[in-house]
Amino acid sequence: MSGVPKKRDSFASKFGVIAATAGSAIGLGNIWRFPYVAGENGGGAFLIIYLSFVLLIGIPVMTSEFIIGRKSRRNVFGAFRKLAPGSYWYLIGLMGVVAAFMILAFYTAVAGWTLEYTYQSVVNGFEKLSSHELSGMYESFIGSPWKPLFWFFVFMLLTSLIIIAGVQRGIEKYSKILMPFLFVLLLILVVRSITLPGAKGGIVFLFKPDFSKITTSTILEALGQAFFSLSIGMGTLITYSSYFRKKEKLGSVAVSVAAADTFIAILAGIAIFPAVFAFNIEPNSGEGLVYITLPGIFQQMYGGYFFSIIFFVLLGVAALTSTTSVMEVIVAFFVEEFYLSRKAATLLTTLSVSILGVMCVLSTSTMADVKLFDFTIFGLMNFTSANILLPLGGFSIVIFVGWRMGRKKVYEELTNKGKLKAGYIPMFMFIVKFLAPLGITFIFLQGVGLIKL
Ligand code: PHE
Repeated sequence: MSGVPKKRDSFASKFGVIAATAGSAIGLGNIWRFPYVAGENGGGAFLIIYLSFVLLIGIPVMTSEFIIGRKSRRNVFGAFRKLAPGSYWYLIGLMGVVAAFMILAFYTAVAGWTLEYTYQSVVNGFEKLSSHELSGMYESFIGSPWKPLFWFFVFMLLTSLIIIAGVQRGIEKYSKILMPFLFVLLLILVVRSITLPGAKGGIVFLFKPDFSKITTSTILEALGQAFFSLSIGMGTLITYSSYFRKKEKLGSVAVSVAAADTFIAILAGIAIFPAVFAFNIEPNSGEGLVYITLPGIFQQMYGGYFFSIIFFVLLGVAALTSTTSVMEVIVAFFVEEFYLSRKAATLLTTLSVSILGVMCVLSTSTMADVKLFDFTIFGLMNFTSANILLPLGGFSIVIFVGWRMGRKKVYEELTNKGKLKAGYIPMFMFIVKFLAPLGITFIFLQGVGLIKL
């Protein structure tokens, strides 16, 4: 049996629910990953496919996680044990915990870089560097073991301090402060970027669809990006929604969070592409777009010193509300399944994730030659979690809700036992039973090369 403490912590306000859940969704995925993936996949055309996946697959998977989480009020493993006792469904929960380990390890590594870049912005470390030198600076930073390790541990520490404080007094409290702060910082950047001379090219690039750029890999990238960005497919949102109150409207929370996540990704695009175009940089410069290109742009920009600080603080804040959500998956699992105190569980999580995390950090330096299936450890964690475990988890979650829980329980959760109208339920059931599983399967098989279109 799951060892659930007598009084389970919970989110105390509607704004807290939205801020925490949107805080999980909005992160490096929106501000670091989305612009470069969109940039590499043709801008506007990618955006349209991405939006349709968020709508048709993302929101239904998210709603399904909410149904499972709030109905069971358990960690991701305990949730499946409780809702489907005596079956093997708990394996999905276990897979979620494993995915959480992997994501937390490599994501915290990248999150640590935001701290170094904030520090460099403050001490004016980018001053007068050419783009070539900036790229050298990036390479030598990630290519040396100590600094990235140091920042990795600082970020782990920040995350665990929020987690130890609890759901209401940690996660909810800090999300309510940090998310509006993030939004204001981003708006400042957007205004600066679109008022640069030559900004228009960036806006056109982001919004004007050029369908000749669409390939099968674009479609898989869009699905992977949607899953990663919305934090779905591994039980982060099952865990968070297990702390939702009974009166929360699950459907509307899902729509609000998905809308906020998408809106922030687009705003990040609007903050970045006009600047990229105004300074004649290739929009498809890849992962370095944020860490190499932007410091260069800030150098040439009036007030760039401040905008650089704002940007990297923003990136760090966004990452922090996401790492807490991933850590909570593991901590809730340890607390409820192994009867640990929250403090002990957090300590255990931090230590065990750090082992994998250190290997991820060192993947760009001393362990660069350690390869598994042709990937560095960092690359392997990144690839398998986002492109394999999340779609597989998302698939299993919609199948569970559509075929195992069934219409009656879904109806109960989505209407709060008949109190709300939810005219969308027939459509939702159709999507979780047929459309989403078939869509995910098809894109997945195509993506790993098992079928060819
Ligand atoms: N959604 C987060 C982001 O966009 C990352 C994340 C993935 C968080 C999976 C939790 C679970 O940065």
